[in-house]
Amino acid sequence: MKYIPFLLLLLGAPFSVLAQNPDLPDDFLTKEFHRERRQALREKMPSNSVAVFFAAAVRNRSNDVDYEYHQDPDFYYLTGYKEPHSVLLIFKDKQKAADGSLYDEIIFVQMRNEMMEMWTGRRLGEEGVKKKWGLEFAYANKEFKRYNLDFSKFDKVLFYDFKNDVRDNPRDSSDLADLVAQFKLKVNYPDPARIPVNPEPAKNNLDTRSLGGIMAQLRGIKKPEEVELIRKAVLVSCQAQVEVMKAMRPGMSELEVQGIHEFVFKKYQAEDVGYPSIVGSGHNGCILHYEENYKPSIESKDLILMDLGAEYRGYTADITRTIPISGKFSPEQKQIYELVLKAQEEAMKICKPGTNFSDLTKATRVVIDQGLKDLGIIKDGEKHRYYPHGCCHHIGLDVHDKGEYNQLAEGMAITIEPGIYIPENSPCDPKWWGIAVRIEDDYLLTKDGNDHLSALAPRKVEDIEAMMRLPSPLDNFVLPDLPAKKK
Ligand code: GLY
Ligand code: MN
Ligand code: MN
Repeated sequence: MKYIPFLLLLLGAPFSVLAQNPDLPDDFLTKEFHRERRQALREKMPSNSVAVFFAAAVRNRSNDVDYEYHQDPDFYYLTGYKEPHSVLLIFKDKQKAADGSLYDEIIFVQMRNEMMEMWTGRRLGEEGVKKKWGLEFAYANKEFKRYNLDFSKFDKVLFYDFKNDVRDNPRDSSDLADLVAQFKLKVNYPDPARIPVNPEPAKNNLDTRSLGGIMAQLRGIKKPEEVELIRKAVLVSCQAQVEVMKAMRPGMSELEVQGIHEFVFKKYQAEDVGYPSIVGSGHNGCILHYEENYKPSIESKDLILMDLGAEYRGYTADITRTIPISGKFSPEQKQIYELVLKAQEEAMKICKPGTNFSDLTKATRVVIDQGLKDLGIIKDGEKHRYYPHGCCHHIGLDVHDKGEYNQLAEGMAITIEPGIYIPENSPCDPKWWGIAVRIEDDYLLTKDGNDHLSALAPRKVEDIEAMMRLPSPLDNFVLPDLPAKKK
């Protein structure tokens, strides 16, 4: 009797609540999102074509340890599925199965396996993929070999060419390497190392060039559900930059700064970094993608350049803040910093639909070249290496996301990231040596302008210095010394 109210409660609960898996966050993209994206792809595909996508490879780190698995972003975008050893086919037109049923997409996935799941984690298997991701035609990857599709009937077979860097596991006859090999046989891929099974040369319907452009059109314009996730990735990354600013003390290591950032965004449930964290103090900041982060004790006189982005449900932020370790910019540091800031603000002014990507970079270059000249760091018209990169790229499932790079359009999510890097021994007054500044923010293109997504992390000199004066929750986080080595 006393169980009845509980049962009634359960019966009254919405299905989604009952179906929720308490071991996973509940704000992933939905199967409806991915289904709609497959349909959007289908609409952009040429007539009588099939698009073939392979899951990302499992990469070995060393010995029996693999790198953490990360799904191929196109594959993820189209399916939501995050497991390896899988192949997805999307057809422009309906295909007829042997039993007469019609389908326009099919996926082959790794099978459930109790023993493997005990060692390396849960698998959805065919049934799980059908249920969770709504891919009705889901089969075990071992069936791909027998999948009897005549690829020669298509005008185009769209796929990305292979880099031939996928390891075969000899104990598994349907891992990614086998799926790729089977596909090559099926489409008569011109592989010089392979003795052709079919001596007749195949009709050349293989197209390894078009898919990139189509996927860039799709992924470059973010859907509202994606924008929400990007916003979240950006916000937690900004909050992490804020906490780092408050906690920064001379003597910390670069790794410790990285650790604080990553701890904070994980506290907000971001699952990963979107790219390796870059924390370079002093002249290390001049290495654009410095990932060592090994300097054991950062120095009070230096700046620290922190290019850090959380990945939240697959979507990544990309934010750089450069701050003085002491809490106060020196006059030279401030001059360089304000120049980079001015360059960024010039680009922000024209960051709206219709502007060309290249105009953003141009706007930052004009400011930086003029400013470096005014400071006597370069001579008039001098070609220099102090700003050696472009200033903008799409962000999304990749940090350098797929997208078109001509005109800005509503729905794009991009960075603006000018920088000045003056390595030691540069041909200028030594007082500038070792100063490296990048300021990188994330923007969503709106109908007639932009939404500055990363505004939460201070950018102006006064705002950074004010933030650095605030107490940090980590001020009292003091760990004991490790026990001394026994004599
Ligand atoms: N974090 C890499 C970049 O800014 O492009
Ligand atoms: Mn960037
Ligand atoms: Mn960056």
